Amino acid sequence: MANNILKGKKGIIFGALNSQSIAWKVAELAHAEGAEFVLTNAPIAMRMGEINELAEKTNSQIIPADATSNEDLENLITKSQEILGGKLDFVLHSIGMSPNVRKGKHYTDLNHDWYNKTLDVSAISFHKTLQLCKKHDALNDWGSVLALTYIAAQRIFPDYGDMADAKSLLESIARSFGYHYGVAKKVRINTISQSPTVTTAGSGVKGFDEFINYSEQMSPLGNATAEACAEYCVAMFSDYTRYVTMQNLFHDGGFSATGVTQQVIEKFGN
Ligand SMILES: NC(=O)c1ccc[n+]([C@@H]2O[C@H](COP(=O)([O-])OP(=O)(O)OC[C@H]3O[C@@H](n4cnc5c(N)ncnc54)[C@H](O)[C@@H]3O)[C@@H](O)[C@H]2O)c1
Repeated sequence: MANNILKGKKGIIFGALNSQSIAWKVAELAHAEGAEFVLTNAPIAMRMGEINELAEKTNSQIIPADATSNEDLENLITKSQEILGGKLDFVLHSIGMSPNVRKGKHYTDLNHDWYNKTLDVSAISFHKTLQLCKKHDALNDWGSVLALTYIAAQRIFPDYGDMADAKSLLESIARSFGYHYGVAKKVRINTISQSPTVTTAGSGVKGFDEFINYSEQMSPLGNATAEACAEYCVAMFSDYTRYVTMQNLFHDGGFSATGVTQQVIEKFGN
């Protein structure tokens, strides 16, 4: 069903770890829609080597970068433009990691060094990327930058721990940088707030299996899949969404606007 809506567009896709990753699905669809891009991930995440398969499939090159390192990001942004032969039109930030969540630390008993790491990897890396793109004037006018987020930024989901704080910061960065980059270069910046999805990062959250079922039953359309998320990302990278910026866009089958569903309320009947 490809329509070539990204024909001629160049970009960077962060965060494809394996075929379940949301970024993986975005890369596959962006390729089918005519985009050219560089794939990147943390050097440590590449040890698994699965990203090579994606690079081959999408005819793209890989540049390793730890998204918390300004040096790595600078190299990525410069080399990507050399490889692609020009400035960028889109960037996908699909990165999240919390050592506290991984190690089962309760939100009221965080290790604060790890907390800093959570914020650095999952949110400040977005600011670093944007700041370096702006410094190197790496994005074309009307370029589109997206980061993936979760509704725990607005409402408490107890097992999401300090990732909730990281997502709040991430969404705020999209708004603040979106203003400045919009005024300077007409670059648009948004976050997409995705349904719970079975991926390596998603499944790391305690009670994920029960939770994904709850979310499914609380969403009039059901949970949005990773493939559907990729479709939304591609639409946001295209010229059909040029005046959307500084928004947190819910892609969640209606979950965020639902108080309760009939399916859920029936569970509480006698
Ligand atoms: N899966 C879900 O339920 C869900 C729901 C809403 C939002 N999201 C968000 O979607 C994004 C992608 O996650 P996913 O679900 O596809 O899982 P994933 O585990 O496939 O992707 C997370 C990626 O972050 C990368 N990463 C971690 N530390 C890094 C670093 N220092 N430098 C560069 N990359 C680093 C990992 O290598 C991995 O590729 C994340 O921001 C996540 O929070 C996921």
